[in-house]
Amino acid sequence: MYFISGLALPIILASSGALAAVTPVQRSALDLPELTLRGEIMSFDSSAVFKRHAAGSPAPLASRAAFNLKDASVAFATTLLPPNVNGGGVAYQSGYVDNGVQSASLIQTHNSVPITNAIANVNFNMAGQVTSYTCAFVNPTTFMNSVPNVTPQSFLPQVEAALNATYTASPTNQMTLQYFVKDNTANLAYVFQVENASTGAAYEVYVDSVTRQILSAVSL
Ligand SMILES: *[C@@H]1O[C@H](CO)[C@@H](O)[C@H](O)[C@H]1NC(C)=O
Ligand SMILES: *[C@@H]1O[C@H](CO)[C@@H](O)[C@H](O)[C@H]1NC(C)=O
Repeated sequence: MYFISGLALPIILASSGALAAVTPVQRSALDLPELTLRGEIMSFDSSAVFKRHAAGSPAPLASRAAFNLKDASVAFATTLLPPNVNGGGVAYQSGYVDNGVQSASLIQTHNSVPITNAIANVNFNMAGQVTSYTCAFVNPTTFMNSVPNVTPQSFLPQVEAALNATYTASPTNQMTLQYFVKDNTANLAYVFQVENASTGAAYEVYVDSVTRQILSAVSL
């Protein structure tokens, strides 16, 4: 297996990757500053994931002379987007070729901001035909502004105190912006990991860029 480099989106997905990481759900929003985490682990709603097997369906760009996994997977996944959503898009994350299968991972975007867990995986055969795909794209009724209102400095101390863990920026732990969908609203969230070196506890945290609420803290 070898990886084909694509657009290097600074997205942190569960390290085991892609759709295998789907787990049962419990979501809640925790208010600052009286925030406590009582062992609730929030994850994402796997009910939205659907799978299709499309044996030998021609991919939109399959007729191109040179098959390009990124272009072909973006073109195919774009057809899976909810219709009539302005600003909607798809970003290629990674891909590989292994044992006669060309596989690509993609994420849904809105105004170029990735939407948390709204991912797709598309598999092609060596003839460039789609053989199967999974898709967890979403269609929230409201998208908040794609520019944050608050700075990380304005919530980091409270978040670190609430989770007993600290944020240390590094190449693998950069704070990024993602849309986090909750109750049909796509909230713009700062996403980063906090860790407590002495207890080993670590969380991926989603903080609302308007209200400073912790939208989700996923135990890593
Ligand atoms: C943080 O530490 C305090 C004191 O040790 C403890 O009461 C609290 O439950 C901890 N919170 C978490 C999320 O671990
Ligand atoms: C790590 O967790 C322990 C126990 O909850 C807590 O006392 C300590 O302050 C935490 N460290 C950080 C950096 O939050």
